[in-house]
Parts: sequence; structure tokens; C-alpha cells
Amino acid sequence: MNQIQDIVKTYYGETLSTSNDLKTDACTTADSPPPHVSAALAAVHDEVASKYYGCGLAIPSLLEGLKVLDLGCGAGRDVFALAKLVGPDGHVTGVDMTDAQLDVAREHEAWHAEQFGYDAPNTRFVKGYLETLGELDLEPNTFDLIISNCVINLCTDKPEVFRQAHRLLKPGGELYFSDVYADRRIPADLAADPVLYGECLSGALYWGDFQSIAKAAGFTDPRTVNHRRLGIIDPALKDKLGPIRFASVTARLIKLDGLDAACEDYGQAVIYKGGIPGMEQVFVLDAEHSIEAGRVFPVCGNTLAMLMDTRFAPYFDVVGDGATHYGLFPGCAAPDVFASTDEDEAPASPGGCCG
Ligand SMILES: C[S@@+](CC[C@H](N)C(=O)[O-])C[C@H]1O[C@@H](n2cnc3c(N)ncnc32)[C@H](O)[C@@H]1O
Repeated sequence: MNQIQDIVKTYYGETLSTSNDLKTDACTTADSPPPHVSAALAAVHDEVASKYYGCGLAIPSLLEGLKVLDLGCGAGRDVFALAKLVGPDGHVTGVDMTDAQLDVAREHEAWHAEQFGYDAPNTRFVKGYLETLGELDLEPNTFDLIISNCVINLCTDKPEVFRQAHRLLKPGGELYFSDVYADRRIPADLAADPVLYGECLSGALYWGDFQSIAKAAGFTDPRTVNHRRLGIIDPALKDKLGPIRFASVTARLIKLDGLDAACEDYGQAVIYKGGIPGMEQVFVLDAEHSIEAGRVFPVCGNTLAMLMDTRFAPYFDVVGDGATHYGLFPGCAAPDVFASTDEDEAPASPGGCCG
């Protein structure tokens, strides 16, 4: 265990008792989930829910039967919500380094299985460090989905976490996660501040470095699902951080071989057939791709692969054989995650919307 891990463990194991103890709105979320996800979150035991410290909604669509891994699961809020959403044929494993968090999660496993009407828990909690995930009893190439909620910013070897996630995912599987990013590299004196670090700020990756690290780990085309500028409420913290801007971003990194380095045009389109729970009318792949059911929707080669070489394939038809390359796909731009949005203007209270 290194010194930073020690600080983070103390912060989440002892300093914080519930979400209300947070000093900034970094670990809160303004996302509004679809109804079936809201119902799953509402079914989580109150004690577990009170120890939720995530920063976004790290729960994608189409989960039934999936094998899921939660990196830095804490007390297990997302694990238990996912346990309901994957159903009795699915399974969710949570990994965390902090005993106090894992104890709460394990105490509530049987309760959730009973609530969901399962014969036995479809959950498992493993103690471990994300920097050494390769040493844990987790089979490579077996997970359909890996999630993480406000954790990778706290890790001391972030590239290794992305490499291990890539190793553990099945081909076509995805790392779907929410985390905090900065608009620049954080100076060393701020990174050494235990409160700024524990509050998910000064360990945050520079957004540009995240893109390079994800690509180097094998996730060729990282996609932004949604983003929110973070407000720093505490005046002392705000003063220390000066002009640095932070954003909470939910991203999806899909493990697919053979993706292009840029969005390329092969003259193809998809038609969403509808039917994905919570996205019956419009399927949202990411911030740039909201695909209406029944409409011919032109896509680049990478987006086509993300739809047709993954669990989403049965819900789409393809137009075009992709035999001809027409150059760069027009209008393919990534969002500015540090831009202010209407949601950012909403008043934030520390820990107030962690539910
Ligand atoms: C901000 S909390 C989020 C917890 C949980 N994902 C949630 O949404 O409630 C961060 C969690 O990550 C865990 N964590 C931080 N760094 C870790 C590491 N290097 N290895 C394993 N767990 C880590 C902490 O113990 C803590 O439970």
C-alpha cells in the first residue's frame, strides 16, 4: 500500500460517514436515470445508499444476463442496483481496497438477494487494489461490462487500471464509467493535498491525458456519454484550485479490435429497431449519437462496430456493405466537457443529490 492509497482509505473508511460529509459537489450527480434504473437504485438498502460517493450514473442500458465488474465499488450501491438489473442469470463483482466499505456491502448481500427474489446472491465483493487488479482472482476476457464511479481519479497508476480493464473485458465488452477530469495537469503541491485528493479533485486526470492513456490501453475510440462542470463550493478549496476547471464525465470505452484512429466514412448507416429498455424511442450511444428508432442514421466505421459487434447488434439494421472508403466521416467532433451547461447552473449542496 502506498501513501496516497493510505490517505484515500482513511478518507472513505473513517473520515466520511455518509455522502453528506462531502465538502464539494464533485461526488454528486445530476443525471436523471430512466425509470427502470431509478427503480433499481431505489431498491438499494438505505445504509448502502447513504454511503454512495459516486459522481455520475455509471449504469448503461441493456444489462440482462451480463457479467459485470465494479472497480472501486465502495459500499456497493451500484453493485446492488446492477444485481437487480442483470437479473438472476447475471452476476456482479465489486472490488475495493477499503474494509469499512466492503464490510457494509457484504452485510447487505443476502438482504438484496431476498428483496430481488433470488435463491442466492448474484454478487461478490473482493478486496484489492485497482493498481494490481491482475493479481486478483478475476478471469481475463470474461466481463461483458466494467463500471467504475468516481474512483480512477483516486488511483496512483491510472494507465495500469485501464490496461487491466481492457484485459478483463470480453471482445465487444465495455468500460462504462463516471469520473472527474481537469482541464490541465494538476500541480504536484495540489496533488499532495489530502482533502483535495480525497474529494476526487487533485488526483483527476487532465482530459487530454485521459484520451491518450485510454487509447494506449487498447480503447482506440473513447466516447463521452455525458458531462457536467463541477462546482467547487468550499471557498478555501476553490481558492487553492484557482482557475483549474473540473468536469464529471461518463465515458464508454468499448473493447474492439480494428477500429480506425479517426472516424472514417464507409458510406454506411444504421436503423434502430427500438426495443432497448429505457431507450425505446431514441438510443443514446454517446453525446454525439442519439439515434431515433426507424430513422436512417449515417455512421462512421467505428460507430458501426460499436453497434454491430456488441450486445446492441440485435436492435439495429445496417444500410450499405462498407466496401468503399469515402474519406473522413464529416462532422465528427468530441464535446467540450468543460463547457458550462444548464445543469451546471443548478444550485448544488454538498452531498445533497447523491441518491
Ligand atoms: C469516491 S468513492 C466511490 C465509491 C463507489 N464507487 C460509489 O459510487 O459509492 C471511491 C472508492 O474507491 C476506492 N478506491 C480508491 N482508490 C482505490 C484503489 N487504488 N484500489 C481499490 N479501491 C480504491 C475507495 O476505497 C472508495 O471506496
